[in-house]
Amino acid sequence: MTAESNGKLTLKKMIPEIKFTKLFINGEFVDSISGKTFETIDPRTEEVIAKVAEGSKEDIDLAVKAARDAFDNGPWPRFSGAQRRKMMMKLADLIDENTEELAALDTIDGGKLFHYGKIIDVPGAAETFRYYAGAADKIHGDTLKMSTDYQAYTLLEPVGVVGHIIPWNFPIQMFAMKVAPALAAGCTMIVKPAEQTPLSALFYAHLTKLAGIPDGVVNVVNGYGTIAGSALTSHMNVDKVCFTGSTKVGRLVMQAAAMSNLKQVTLELGGKSPIIIFDDAELDRAVQLALIGNLYNKAKICAAGSRVFVQEGIYEEFLNKLEEKVKSWVVGDPFDQDTQQGPQIEKKQYNKILSYIEQGKKEGATLLSGGKPVGKGGYYIEPTIFTDVEDDMIIAKEEIFGPVMSILKFKTIDEVISRANATTYGLVAGVITNNLNTANTVSRSIRAGSIWINCYFVFDRDTPFGGYKMSGYGRDMGMEGLSKYLHVKTVATPIYNTPWL
Ligand code: NAI
Ligand code: MG
Repeated sequence: MTAESNGKLTLKKMIPEIKFTKLFINGEFVDSISGKTFETIDPRTEEVIAKVAEGSKEDIDLAVKAARDAFDNGPWPRFSGAQRRKMMMKLADLIDENTEELAALDTIDGGKLFHYGKIIDVPGAAETFRYYAGAADKIHGDTLKMSTDYQAYTLLEPVGVVGHIIPWNFPIQMFAMKVAPALAAGCTMIVKPAEQTPLSALFYAHLTKLAGIPDGVVNVVNGYGTIAGSALTSHMNVDKVCFTGSTKVGRLVMQAAAMSNLKQVTLELGGKSPIIIFDDAELDRAVQLALIGNLYNKAKICAAGSRVFVQEGIYEEFLNKLEEKVKSWVVGDPFDQDTQQGPQIEKKQYNKILSYIEQGKKEGATLLSGGKPVGKGGYYIEPTIFTDVEDDMIIAKEEIFGPVMSILKFKTIDEVISRANATTYGLVAGVITNNLNTANTVSRSIRAGSIWINCYFVFDRDTPFGGYKMSGYGRDMGMEGLSKYLHVKTVATPIYNTPWL
C-alpha cells in the first residue's frame, strides 16, 4: 500500500534554491518593519526550509498604501484591456518558463506531488492567467432602454484594492485563481499566502515585475492569519476581500468586514461533499472516482467527496473492489514519480486527522483499510476507509481534510437526496449512474455549487466554482470569477431635451 511499509521513507533531498523570502511591497522585496521572520518547514522531514519575513499590521498598512496609490493614481486601472492583457500573457509565459522551480517550491513547502505540479498545477496557473488576459479587453456594460424619455448605459469598473487570503492546499492555483481575474478587472491587490506555504507566491510576485506589471499592483505579505490576515480584513482602505479557508475564519473575515468599512467579501470554505453511487453504475469507474475523490492532493481539498453513498445492491461488491484497489495506492515522497499521496501539511493537521480516525473507530464505524501513520518522521498517513458509517457520526459530519473516506449505504433515490443534503455545507456532489433520469434528478435536487456526473474534480477555468450554504458564496473561475471584481455603474441621460419634471 505504501512506498515503504517497513517504517522508513527514503526522501529525495531535492530542495530548490530559495531565492525570495522577503515581503513584496510596491515592486520591491523588503524586510518586515519589525524585522521578524518565521520558519517554513518541509512536511516530508519536519526540517526548516527557510526563514521568511513575517508581516504584521504595519507591513499590511504599507502594502495597502501602495495598492491604494496604484489604484487611485497609477496606470493599471486606466490601461486599456489590451494593455493589461499583454502583460498578463507575458506573465503566463514566464510561469511556463519556470515550471519546474515553481512546482518544486510547493512540493518542499506543502508536500504536493512534484509530477502533478509540473503537469497540472503550474501549467494550469499559466492558463488561468491567459484565460483572464483574454477577457481583459472584453469587459463591457449594457445599453439600457428605459421606460421614460431617458437612456442609460452601464460601465463595469474595478472594485478597487483587493485583499486575497489564500490557503496552503493549492498555493499556486489559488494564487492564479484569485490574482488573474482581479488583474484583468483592473484592480490592485495584496496577497496574504498561508503561513504554511509562503514561498511560491513570492516567486510569482517576482514574475509580475518581470512581466512589466506596475509597482504596487500586486503585493505579497506573508505572515500569520491572526495578525497579517486580520489586519487586511479590517483595513479601511481595502475594498474587497476574497478568502479561501476554514468556515471558522470565514466568519471572522465577514465580521471584520462588517466592523470596518463594509468591504465586499467572497468566501470559499470547504465542505463535506457526497459522491452518490447507484446500483447501475459502472463499478470499476465508481471505485476509481471514489478513491480519487477522497485521496487526490492527499485529500487536502475543499471539494473532497468524503461521504460516499453506495446503493445496497452493489454495496458488498463495491467494498471488495475498493479494498483491493486501495492496496496499490502509493504514499511516499512527493518528488517520486510513483507517489500518489505525499505528507500532510503540518503537525496540527496530521494530529487532527489521526484523532478523527480514532473518533471513527470509537463511534463504531468499521475500518476497511488504513488508519495509521506511515514511516517515522514527516506527516504521512495511510489512505483510510471506514464502512458502516452512519449519518450522525462525527466523521460523516465534519470536514476532516485528510485521507479518510466514509462509506454509507442507501436504498432509494429520495432517501439519498435527503441524506446528501443533510449537511451545513454545499460545495459539490458526485453522481455515478448510467441512468439519465437519475443523474438529472439528483443534479437538480442537491444544494451545491457544482455537480459532477460520472466524473469528479472537474475543475476548469471555464466553470464557476463555489458554494451554497456554509461552503461560502461568490464564485471563482469562469466569468463569474471576473464579475466579482467589477462594480456596475449606471449612467443615465435624457434622449430629448425634455423639460425637467
Ligand atoms: P485557516 O482558515 O486558518 O487558514 C486559511 C488562510 O486564512 C490562511 O492564509 C491563514 O493565514 C488565514 N487566516 C487565519 N486566521 C485568519 C484571521 N483571523 N483573519 C484573516 N485571515 C486568517 O485554515 P487552517 O487552520 O490552515 O486549516 C484548518 C481547516 O480549514 C482545515 O482542516 C480545513 O478543514 C479548512 N481549510 C479549508 C480550505 C479550503 O480549501 N476551503 C483550505 C485550508 C483549510
Ligand atoms: Mg511549509
